[in-house]
Amino acid sequence: MSASENIPSNPCIAGGTRTISDIIDERLSRRRFLAGLGAAAAVSGCAKDEAALPQGAEITGGAAPEEGAAGLMEEFSFREITRGADEHHHIPEDYQLDLVLRWGDAVFPDAPAFDPYNQTEAAQLRQFGYNNDFIGFHPLEPTADGRLRGLLCVNHEYTSTRLMFPGLSQGRVVTKSDCEVEMAAHGGTIIEIAQDSEADGGMWRPVVTSAYNRRITAGTTVMALTGPAAGSERMMTKDDPTGREVIGTLNNCAGGMTPWGTYLMAEENFNSNFLGTVPQGHPETENHKRYGVPGARYQWGRYFERFDIAKTPNEPNRFGWVVEVDILDPSSTPKKRTAMGRFKHEGAENVVAPDGRVVVYMGDDQRFDYVYKFVTARAFDAENRAANMDLFDEGTLYVARFDADGQVAWMPLTFGEGPLTAQNGFHSQADVMIETRRAADLLGATPMDRPEDVEPDPATGRVYVMLTNNHKRTADQVDAANPRAHNIFGQIIEIIEPDGDFTATTSRWEFVVKCGDPADGAHGAMWNSATSENGWFGSPDNGAIDPKGRLWVSTDGNEKTGANDGLWALATKGAARGTGRAFFRAPNGAEVCGPRFTPDGKTLFLAVQHPGDGMGTSFEKPSTRWPDFDSKTPPRPSVVAIRRADDDEI
Ligand code: FEO
Ligand code: CA
Ligand code: CA
Ligand code: CA
Repeated sequence: MSASENIPSNPCIAGGTRTISDIIDERLSRRRFLAGLGAAAAVSGCAKDEAALPQGAEITGGAAPEEGAAGLMEEFSFREITRGADEHHHIPEDYQLDLVLRWGDAVFPDAPAFDPYNQTEAAQLRQFGYNNDFIGFHPLEPTADGRLRGLLCVNHEYTSTRLMFPGLSQGRVVTKSDCEVEMAAHGGTIIEIAQDSEADGGMWRPVVTSAYNRRITAGTTVMALTGPAAGSERMMTKDDPTGREVIGTLNNCAGGMTPWGTYLMAEENFNSNFLGTVPQGHPETENHKRYGVPGARYQWGRYFERFDIAKTPNEPNRFGWVVEVDILDPSSTPKKRTAMGRFKHEGAENVVAPDGRVVVYMGDDQRFDYVYKFVTARAFDAENRAANMDLFDEGTLYVARFDADGQVAWMPLTFGEGPLTAQNGFHSQADVMIETRRAADLLGATPMDRPEDVEPDPATGRVYVMLTNNHKRTADQVDAANPRAHNIFGQIIEIIEPDGDFTATTSRWEFVVKCGDPADGAHGAMWNSATSENGWFGSPDNGAIDPKGRLWVSTDGNEKTGANDGLWALATKGAARGTGRAFFRAPNGAEVCGPRFTPDGKTLFLAVQHPGDGMGTSFEKPSTRWPDFDSKTPPRPSVVAIRRADDDEI
């Protein structure tokens, strides 16, 4: 979702007490620590920390630029695209792009044809939703004639009301029917796709007749609340006196796929869907404030009591969770896993640790909020799918403190430990999970520059944290991991889990890049100097590790660099570390989400979200009409598939 609405709510930030000299001391001690490690990358990375002072291009890998470039050429063979901004998408030469699914496309055989002038809830419930974000791919057995197939799992994060519906720019008010359509356009889609044979062009197409296909929405899908907060009084409403059942899911941003074939949908900006004011003195008043409730972006609360906190003050507590969906059973009840905490969940990428436990990495996408990981109590059982289905109901949620000496301390959010006691208003693990943010505040977690996707690399034990930006950070609020004031470009941090043990409670961290233009000293950016004028970017959002172990990063907010959002390859290893290379550029107004590779590494799926957006845009006057370019058709968020023309690996 666009950065403009991300209003900080961390009370720990209001009056930062650390002084510049504290920070310089931290930097010096960190530099000494890293110098002691003797690693070239670490030493040069730490030298950058020394300055929040403006600086130009820097080499993180300790390599000469030519050497770095040569290494990168070998690793990423595509011809880089150029920076820019226009109504079209751009891909490298010798690659091809196919549209797989657009907003309004059929998910079921009986779906009506897309008619943006006569939208109904009934139609939208049978069609692909709006603003595709996360993409998961679950391979299925090939077809009888040997073609690849799989289940695509796609989040529909939010609706861009003024781009979606006609007439609003001419004074028409949002109706109850519009709100119902919006609720049906939120959530997710699970749909089978199959690839044409190579002889037929190799295009991926939806299989609308598949029995796996499913729409999950904000307005109609009944979900179970499970884990420590299920059944809490604070989860009960007039419609659900049990506190264990909730209708729908909201603002599903990024997510994750598990090794046992489930799909994790992360509920992010759920606050935006609520209107109203809680009754005077209501016990949830402070809790709602910490989450920015009510966000009042939508009109739903005018027509539906549960989105009006004056009438249903507990309803917001039932959102802000990670939802797990069994994609192999389309009649299954999605489960909101409250053991993984309640915050503005950006993603839920996960990995099996050496001892078999499953670790889920998560960002809370708000300025000055935190990075988390959840470690299951039990191990994953590859031989027994049923034994894994409720793994996420038991385990430990940790929040990260990024120390200036390069250490990450993972602190457990466990009721009764440290400050998480009745003295501070926590009476159970349910309270700790419902108020995860306040619990993390009390533990002294590091307030970050908007943590978005957090991507573990199972092969290396390294984890990449996309920190998108934070223009609200002032000079007296910088720290080692968030070293720039008025940070409009963001940074990417690498967490190094000791010996590849993802369950570790003490890890190390290092920068990969500090985003922005390396040629403009005022940006304070840090890149390998092999990075071309097209290879740097701003506002990293989603990441993906491809089957070869290479990192790819998509952006949301790159317009602050004067160019459209896109997808970049980013070298993390060897001499090329810290070199970016531009691969995909989105049309005007769009961010790029969901990078996902097929297991053979030959197809890259991308989600182009909110094309046509921008200041003063509307259904009638979008900033592009991508992808149809028809004067009567609004822009349509879409999933695309990119492949090499010679069908080799990307
Ligand atoms: Fe939905 Fe944090 O982007
Ligand atoms: Ca985003
Ligand atoms: Ca995002
Ligand atoms: Ca990801």
